[in-house]
Amino acid sequence: MRGVTDLLAEPRIRIDDRLNGSAGGDIAAEVREGLTKAPLKELPPKLFYDARGSELFDRITQLPEYYPTRCERSILNRRAPEIVEIAGAEELIELGSGSASKTRALLFAMAGAGALRRYVPVDVSAAPVERCADELSELYPGIEVHGLIGDFNRDLVHLPDGERRLFAFLGGTIGNLYPDERIEFLGALRELMGADDRLLLGTDLVKDAAVLEAAYDDGEGVTAEFNRNALRVVNRELGADFLVERFEHRAFFDERRSWIEMRLHSLDDVVVDVPGAEIEVAFEAGEEIRTEISAKFTPAGVDRELSQAGLRLEEFWTDDGGLFALSLSAPAR
Ligand code: SAH
Ligand code: AVI
Repeated sequence: MRGVTDLLAEPRIRIDDRLNGSAGGDIAAEVREGLTKAPLKELPPKLFYDARGSELFDRITQLPEYYPTRCERSILNRRAPEIVEIAGAEELIELGSGSASKTRALLFAMAGAGALRRYVPVDVSAAPVERCADELSELYPGIEVHGLIGDFNRDLVHLPDGERRLFAFLGGTIGNLYPDERIEFLGALRELMGADDRLLLGTDLVKDAAVLEAAYDDGEGVTAEFNRNALRVVNRELGADFLVERFEHRAFFDERRSWIEMRLHSLDDVVVDVPGAEIEVAFEAGEEIRTEISAKFTPAGVDRELSQAGLRLEEFWTDDGGLFALSLSAPAR
């Protein structure tokens, strides 16, 4: 029989760092590829999220213009018990977990059902994973927290094995992937899932362009700072000499492709040295870098992309205003 000391000695928090302390892992190759693209230069959106970028994102979620977090929270608060009952899960794996503020409704419902065994936050940003591992293991002393600091496009193979798992991918982060990346990502996730696992997916919905554009260009300029943070990360991680304040934030809704696009607009003719990526990058005044897309879905589009990946839609909920959706799906038989 195990004694009390054995139980206390048992580690309840485990952090697996697949990025070895660097923002976004080996970003040199991705930055080189993106900044040498023509006609439009690009940077991967994961670069936003160093500790400062993660804090800026948390501020975005509280802005009046940024409706997705509020809407998704209202769905989760209402549906968490139902989600937990359908999924029958003992383990919550959250991709792109960030500060996991909305997730608490799910954990609370799982704990209420006496079924909360393990929480696995996965994020490229180390600081929020470490913070929420500490907070949650204090809140739920019996829970095991296994944090995975890594890229959800690459590192899901390092997830711990388990059964009856609920995978949550919230916030609309799936929309930050291009359509072909989404197919690949959902397909890889489907491969990982056992027959009893479920996917809870948050997707932002198509709506009036003015509402969308305001959400990505707020009056306080927090989103602008978040956008420019990608350049600060490239400066720090790769020794680049971007004059960050000389790049302006732009955001617009591309109706044809049904996505918001965020860009950084160079005010100058300038050559930027990026020694860590072994490139020098010339910008003309007015030239832009695409830093993020954020796809907006129709309900039919969500269903289609899930089925293409071999997932069967079980439930689809929206908030009262129909702005944001949560879907629950299972591996198709
Ligand atoms: N799920 C939270 C946070 C969304 S912000 C919410 O709904 O509010 C997107 C989160 O995904 C950030 O925490 C960011 O660090 C993380 N992220 C972005 N790209 C990632 C990647 N490629 N791999 C893992 N995490 C990533
Ligand atoms: C994380 N992701 C879903 C956010 C979004 O809305 O696409 C990132 C963001 N970009 C600007 N504001 C928020």
